[in-house]
Amino acid sequence: MLVIRCKNYDECSKAASDIFKNALKENPNMILGLATGSSPIGIYQNLIKDYENGEISFKNVRTYNLDEYVGITREHPQSYYYFMNDNLFNHVDINKENVHVPFAYEGKYEESCKAYTEELKKVSVDIQLLGIGANGHIGFNEPKTSFDQETFIVTLTEKTREDNKRFFNSIDEVPTHAITMGIADIMRAKKIVLIACGENKAEAVKRLLSGEITTDFPASALHNHNDVVVVIDDAACKLLD
Ligand code: GLP
Repeated sequence: MLVIRCKNYDECSKAASDIFKNALKENPNMILGLATGSSPIGIYQNLIKDYENGEISFKNVRTYNLDEYVGITREHPQSYYYFMNDNLFNHVDINKENVHVPFAYEGKYEESCKAYTEELKKVSVDIQLLGIGANGHIGFNEPKTSFDQETFIVTLTEKTREDNKRFFNSIDEVPTHAITMGIADIMRAKKIVLIACGENKAEAVKRLLSGEITTDFPASALHNHNDVVVVIDDAACKLLD
């Protein structure tokens, strides 16, 4: 696990987006695993600038997102599909047919999950971007999720719903379930970049960097991967040393 420590969110975003930019320059046909939440927004803004400067193109890029709420449509402003269009895809030359955000079709949850995992196995993600939840969740893999878990429907913990309520009018509007790549799907990516910034991630960063591997803390599975870069800022390092 390589740790890159930066001063603040902007520097973290630059360090992380440069990893993607350089990889895209080398291989414009890359398969990217993408994430939502507030952490990746700066990375996406930088990648849009890199695209506008003519440094990179998304024309031949394929993307697979980590997760999506269950029970809201793709048109809902808080859906992760909407988020990705709004924060990245609408601003670059990606072919929307190459965009994949999991979706749990009503009455076909099991099939939806199976199909997503099967596709991920076929394509093999080159770089997977991750944020981290305060409780160590990656994607929506909450504590106690098996490291062998593939794409599944998860019941969100109260903590996660509480953390995400800032995007909704009230906690009651936050969906109770989500479809998410499982830890096993995430671990199949060739490279993983995790970004964690701000004081509210300090506890999670401390636990991640302790090196302990336990299903109580899903992100600790990353210690079993041989190419992980963790990008953190000073505030997130508050509880270290
Ligand atoms: C959500 C997402 C995760 C994300 C986490 C942290 O629960 N499903 O993929 O990593 O929130 O979000 P943020 O970056 O906003 O702190």
